[in-house]
Amino acid sequence: MIGHDEALRAVESSLDRPSAARVYDYFLGGTTNYAIDREFAEKVRQRIPLISDYCRTSRQFLGRAVRRCAELGVTQFLDIGSGLPTEGNVHDVADRARPSRDTRVLYVDNEPIALAHSTLLLADTADPARHQALAADFMRPADLWRRVRASGLLDLRQPVALVINAVMHFVKDEDDPDTVLDFYRRSLAPGSLLVLSQMTNENPRSDEERQALIDLVDYYQGTTNPAQLRPTAEFARFFGDWELLEPGLVYAPAWHPDSATVFAAAPSQSRVIGGVGRKPSA
Ligand SMILES: C[S@@+](CC[C@H](N)C(=O)[O-])C[C@H]1O[C@@H](n2cnc3c(N)ncnc32)[C@H](O)[C@@H]1O
Repeated sequence: MIGHDEALRAVESSLDRPSAARVYDYFLGGTTNYAIDREFAEKVRQRIPLISDYCRTSRQFLGRAVRRCAELGVTQFLDIGSGLPTEGNVHDVADRARPSRDTRVLYVDNEPIALAHSTLLLADTADPARHQALAADFMRPADLWRRVRASGLLDLRQPVALVINAVMHFVKDEDDPDTVLDFYRRSLAPGSLLVLSQMTNENPRSDEERQALIDLVDYYQGTTNPAQLRPTAEFARFFGDWELLEPGLVYAPAWHPDSATVFAAAPSQSRVIGGVGRKPSA
């Protein structure tokens, strides 16, 4: 755990630019955001009018994917880039899917305000023996793994559902996400599941939309989280040689939609792709 002064310094130093976690919270209708985040979010909305629906699509995919992982018998969840707590938190979904309450969830984020709120929410409403949050950087996998191990919450010899939802579009190819993902895939036990989604620039409906998506990436250059959108063929590599569960890597609303799924009638309008992979037996 980081100390009080360190946490305060981290929070203060994160308020000079919009943060992806807080902007996403705003798009989802949350209140854990600041004027700098809201101004930025409204500038994005001018350019991408359906941005809140895309965020909701990501969040809904997360819920359906976690539910499916729990139904398949995986009881341990590691949610990296977990963001600010909001409706449909992983531990709530997992508990609903497995009323025996045998699931454990470890939340990880490197955004100080997201972490502070996750810690408070868990302290108030969750089960500290089964739910914890810690600060770590997805891009420093060995350090992150050490912290996960030190938490003692997850048995890393058993399958884990690794959730990296709506995070990869904040990791640019020049920062070598392939080596990072490879580390996580190698470190997990056979039978583990990998939940991945990100925003895509595939098949824009018009030149106007193509340009709007380029502008979106440009805007995020000025935040704490520069972005990179990817078409499906580029994103698929993050699953490595893991087998994809049905229906594969698809537009997120096409992944086991339910009655609440936004864009269920026209998944390719969602701008979000996602899938779940399973680590084969050795
Ligand atoms: C759009 S939010 C997604 C939140 C949540 N996963 C969801 O799907 O609702 C992206 C999150 O990724 C986190 N993030 C981005 N880069 C990260 C990194 N290198 N290490 C840890 N978290 C990171 C941000 O702080 C933010 O909370």
